[in-house]
Amino acid sequence: MSVAEFRQSLHEIKGLIGATETDFDQLRKHQGFLLENLDEVIAFFYDILYENSGSRDVFTEGEREKREQTLRDWVVALLEGHDEDSYWRAQYLVGLAHVRRKVANRYMISIANRLKEFYLPKMIDQLGTEEGIKTFISFQRILDSGVALTVTLVDEAFKMVIEENTGWTEALMQKMQESVFVQIAKKFQTE
Ligand code: HEM
Repeated sequence: MSVAEFRQSLHEIKGLIGATETDFDQLRKHQGFLLENLDEVIAFFYDILYENSGSRDVFTEGEREKREQTLRDWVVALLEGHDEDSYWRAQYLVGLAHVRRKVANRYMISIANRLKEFYLPKMIDQLGTEEGIKTFISFQRILDSGVALTVTLVDEAFKMVIEENTGWTEALMQKMQESVFVQIAKKFQTE
Protein backbone atom coordinates (compact mmCIF):
# COMPACT_ATOMS: atom_id res chain seq x y z
CA MET A 1 0.00 0.00 0.00
CA SER A 2 1.56 3.30 -1.07
CA VAL A 3 1.38 6.43 1.07
CA ALA A 4 -1.08 7.88 -1.46
CA GLU A 5 -3.32 4.80 -1.17
CA PHE A 6 -3.07 4.98 2.61
CA ARG A 7 -4.22 8.62 2.50
CA GLN A 8 -7.10 7.71 0.20
CA SER A 9 -8.27 4.84 2.46
CA LEU A 10 -7.97 7.03 5.53
CA HIS A 11 -9.91 9.80 3.80
CA GLU A 12 -12.71 7.35 2.94
CA ILE A 13 -12.83 5.89 6.45
CA LYS A 14 -12.86 9.26 8.20
CA GLY A 15 -15.51 10.53 5.78
CA LEU A 16 -17.79 7.55 6.36
CA ILE A 17 -17.32 7.48 10.13
CA GLY A 18 -17.36 11.27 10.43
CA ALA A 19 -14.16 11.56 12.48
CA THR A 20 -12.74 15.11 12.66
CA GLU A 21 -10.58 17.35 14.82
CA THR A 22 -13.68 18.09 16.95
CA ASP A 23 -13.54 14.51 18.21
CA PHE A 24 -9.97 14.92 19.45
CA ASP A 25 -11.00 18.21 21.09
CA GLN A 26 -13.91 16.48 22.83
CA LEU A 27 -11.64 13.75 24.24
CA ARG A 28 -9.08 16.33 25.37
CA LYS A 29 -11.86 18.21 27.16
CA HIS A 30 -12.39 15.09 29.28
CA GLN A 31 -8.84 13.91 29.65
CA GLY A 32 -9.30 13.75 33.42
CA PHE A 33 -12.04 11.16 32.91
CA LEU A 34 -9.95 9.10 30.50
CA LEU A 35 -6.88 9.12 32.71
CA GLU A 36 -8.81 8.34 35.90
CA ASN A 37 -10.37 5.26 34.30
CA LEU A 38 -7.18 4.09 32.59
CA ASP A 39 -6.13 1.31 34.99
CA GLU A 40 -9.63 -0.12 34.99
CA VAL A 41 -10.02 -0.13 31.21
CA ILE A 42 -6.62 -1.77 30.73
CA ALA A 43 -7.48 -4.61 33.14
CA PHE A 44 -10.91 -5.02 31.49
CA PHE A 45 -9.40 -5.10 27.97
CA TYR A 46 -6.65 -7.67 28.64
CA ASP A 47 -8.77 -9.84 30.97
CA ILE A 48 -11.12 -10.39 28.02
CA LEU A 49 -8.35 -11.03 25.50
CA TYR A 50 -6.61 -13.48 27.86
CA GLU A 51 -9.81 -15.25 28.96
CA ASN A 52 -10.69 -16.23 25.41
CA SER A 53 -8.72 -18.83 23.47
CA GLY A 54 -7.82 -17.58 20.03
CA SER A 55 -7.16 -14.03 21.14
CA ARG A 56 -5.11 -15.36 24.09
CA ASP A 57 -2.97 -17.41 21.70
CA VAL A 58 -1.78 -14.25 19.95
CA PHE A 59 0.30 -13.31 22.99
CA THR A 60 3.63 -14.80 23.95
CA GLU A 61 4.55 -15.92 27.46
CA GLY A 62 4.96 -13.00 29.86
CA GLU A 63 3.89 -10.37 27.32
CA ARG A 64 0.93 -8.92 29.19
CA GLU A 65 2.76 -6.19 31.06
CA LYS A 66 4.29 -4.79 27.88
CA ARG A 67 0.95 -4.85 26.12
CA GLU A 68 -0.73 -3.05 29.02
CA GLN A 69 1.80 -0.27 28.58
CA THR A 70 1.07 -0.02 24.83
CA LEU A 71 -2.64 0.44 25.50
CA ARG A 72 -1.84 3.06 28.13
CA ASP A 73 0.32 4.88 25.54
CA TRP A 74 -2.48 4.62 22.99
CA VAL A 75 -5.00 6.35 25.27
CA VAL A 76 -2.45 9.10 25.96
CA ALA A 77 -1.83 9.41 22.18
CA LEU A 78 -5.58 9.86 21.71
CA LEU A 79 -5.46 12.83 24.04
CA GLU A 80 -2.56 14.31 22.10
CA GLY A 81 -4.04 13.42 18.72
CA HIS A 82 -5.03 15.77 15.92
CA ASP A 83 -6.89 15.23 12.72
CA GLU A 84 -3.79 15.29 10.62
CA ASP A 85 -1.43 12.71 9.26
CA SER A 86 0.82 12.45 12.33
CA TYR A 87 -1.78 10.74 14.56
CA TRP A 88 -3.08 8.57 11.74
CA ARG A 89 0.36 7.63 10.46
CA ALA A 90 1.13 6.37 13.96
CA GLN A 91 -2.12 4.36 13.80
CA TYR A 92 -0.97 2.95 10.50
CA LEU A 93 2.08 1.54 12.29
CA VAL A 94 -0.11 0.30 15.15
CA GLY A 95 -2.28 -1.45 12.55
CA LEU A 96 0.79 -2.96 10.90
CA ALA A 97 2.01 -4.27 14.27
CA HIS A 98 -1.30 -6.17 14.55
CA VAL A 99 -1.02 -7.49 11.01
CA ARG A 100 2.48 -8.71 11.78
CA ARG A 101 1.24 -10.53 14.89
CA LYS A 102 -1.68 -11.96 12.89
CA VAL A 103 -4.39 -10.42 15.04
CA ALA A 104 -7.58 -11.46 13.23
CA ASN A 105 -10.03 -8.75 12.23
CA ARG A 106 -12.72 -10.41 14.30
CA TYR A 107 -10.63 -9.91 17.46
CA MET A 108 -10.04 -6.23 16.71
CA ILE A 109 -13.72 -5.59 16.03
CA SER A 110 -14.87 -7.59 19.06
CA ILE A 111 -12.55 -5.93 21.55
CA ALA A 112 -13.34 -2.47 20.14
CA ASN A 113 -16.96 -3.29 20.88
CA ARG A 114 -16.07 -4.19 24.45
CA LEU A 115 -14.16 -0.95 24.87
CA LYS A 116 -17.29 0.92 23.88
CA GLU A 117 -19.37 -1.19 26.26
CA PHE A 118 -16.92 -0.23 29.03
CA TYR A 119 -17.01 3.48 28.34
CA LEU A 120 -20.62 4.30 27.48
CA PRO A 121 -22.21 3.81 30.93
CA LYS A 122 -19.19 5.36 32.67
CA MET A 123 -19.20 8.41 30.44
CA ILE A 124 -22.89 8.99 31.02
CA ASP A 125 -22.54 8.39 34.73
CA GLN A 126 -19.43 10.52 35.28
CA LEU A 127 -19.88 13.26 32.65
CA GLY A 128 -23.68 13.55 32.55
CA THR A 129 -25.96 12.30 29.78
CA GLU A 130 -25.40 14.99 27.15
CA GLU A 131 -21.65 15.36 27.58
CA GLY A 132 -21.25 11.62 28.12
CA ILE A 133 -22.95 10.72 24.85
CA LYS A 134 -21.01 13.41 22.98
CA THR A 135 -17.71 12.09 24.35
CA PHE A 136 -18.69 8.52 23.63
CA ILE A 137 -19.45 9.31 19.98
CA SER A 138 -16.07 11.04 19.60
CA PHE A 139 -14.28 8.09 21.17
CA GLN A 140 -16.19 5.68 18.96
CA ARG A 141 -15.34 7.62 15.80
CA ILE A 142 -11.62 7.65 16.49
CA LEU A 143 -11.48 4.07 17.75
CA ASP A 144 -13.49 2.68 14.84
CA SER A 145 -11.44 4.64 12.30
CA GLY A 146 -8.33 2.96 13.74
CA VAL A 147 -9.97 -0.46 13.54
CA ALA A 148 -11.08 0.17 9.95
CA LEU A 149 -7.53 1.20 9.10
CA THR A 150 -6.18 -2.04 10.59
CA VAL A 151 -8.72 -4.10 8.65
CA THR A 152 -7.66 -2.27 5.47
CA LEU A 153 -4.03 -3.13 6.19
CA VAL A 154 -4.83 -6.80 6.70
CA ASP A 155 -6.53 -6.86 3.27
CA GLU A 156 -3.70 -4.93 1.64
CA ALA A 157 -0.95 -7.05 3.19
CA PHE A 158 -2.67 -10.22 2.02
CA LYS A 159 -3.07 -8.86 -1.51
CA MET A 160 0.57 -7.77 -1.60
CA VAL A 161 1.82 -11.18 -0.51
CA ILE A 162 -0.13 -12.87 -3.31
CA GLU A 163 0.70 -10.29 -5.98
CA GLU A 164 4.40 -10.28 -5.21
CA ASN A 165 4.72 -14.05 -5.01
CA THR A 166 2.50 -15.14 -7.87
CA GLY A 167 2.24 -12.21 -10.24
CA TRP A 168 -1.56 -12.54 -10.09
CA THR A 169 -3.38 -9.28 -10.70
CA GLU A 170 -6.12 -7.85 -8.51
CA ALA A 171 -8.67 -8.45 -11.28
CA LEU A 172 -7.68 -12.11 -11.51
CA MET A 173 -7.89 -12.53 -7.73
CA GLN A 174 -11.36 -10.97 -7.70
CA LYS A 175 -12.48 -13.41 -10.38
CA MET A 176 -11.10 -16.34 -8.42
CA GLN A 177 -12.80 -15.08 -5.28
CA GLU A 178 -16.17 -15.10 -7.00
CA SER A 179 -15.96 -18.83 -7.59
CA VAL A 180 -14.81 -19.35 -4.00
CA PHE A 181 -17.84 -17.41 -2.74
CA VAL A 182 -20.11 -19.72 -4.73
CA GLN A 183 -18.40 -22.76 -3.19
CA ILE A 184 -18.74 -21.38 0.34
CA ALA A 185 -22.40 -20.48 -0.17
CA LYS A 186 -23.09 -24.02 -1.45
CA LYS A 187 -21.45 -25.49 1.65
CA PHE A 188 -23.70 -23.43 3.91
CA GLN A 189 -26.75 -24.56 1.98
CA THR A 190 -25.86 -28.25 2.18
CA GLU A 191 -23.94 -28.82 5.44
C1 HEM B 1 -9.14 -1.66 19.44
C2 HEM B 1 -8.30 -2.54 19.76
C3 HEM B 1 -6.82 -2.41 20.00
C4 HEM B 1 -6.03 -1.31 20.24
C5 HEM B 1 -6.46 0.14 20.34
C6 HEM B 1 -4.68 -1.78 20.37
C7 HEM B 1 -3.57 -0.99 20.60
C8 HEM B 1 -2.27 -1.40 20.45
C9 HEM B 1 -1.11 -0.56 20.38
C10 HEM B 1 -1.13 0.97 20.47
C11 HEM B 1 -0.02 -1.34 20.21
C12 HEM B 1 1.45 -0.90 20.06
C13 HEM B 1 1.84 -0.97 18.61
C14 HEM B 1 3.25 -0.53 18.33
O1 HEM B 1 4.14 -0.81 19.12
O2 HEM B 1 3.46 0.13 17.31
C15 HEM B 1 -0.48 -2.70 20.18
C16 HEM B 1 0.34 -3.79 20.02
C17 HEM B 1 -0.10 -5.10 20.10
N1 HEM B 1 -1.41 -5.52 20.22
FE1 HEM B 1 -3.03 -4.35 20.23
N2 HEM B 1 -4.66 -3.14 20.23
C18 HEM B 1 -5.96 -3.57 20.01
C19 HEM B 1 -6.37 -4.86 19.83
C20 HEM B 1 -5.60 -5.97 19.97
C21 HEM B 1 -6.06 -7.34 19.94
C22 HEM B 1 -7.51 -7.76 19.72
C23 HEM B 1 -4.96 -8.14 20.12
C24 HEM B 1 -4.84 -9.63 20.18
C25 HEM B 1 -5.82 -10.49 20.21
C26 HEM B 1 -3.81 -7.26 20.23
C27 HEM B 1 -2.51 -7.69 20.37
C28 HEM B 1 -1.41 -6.88 20.26
C29 HEM B 1 -0.05 -7.37 20.17
C30 HEM B 1 0.38 -8.83 20.19
C31 HEM B 1 0.78 -6.25 20.04
C32 HEM B 1 2.30 -6.22 19.91
C33 HEM B 1 2.67 -6.03 18.44
C34 HEM B 1 4.16 -6.13 18.20
O3 HEM B 1 4.70 -7.22 18.36
O4 HEM B 1 4.76 -5.10 17.88
N3 HEM B 1 -4.24 -5.97 20.14
N4 HEM B 1 -1.84 -2.72 20.34
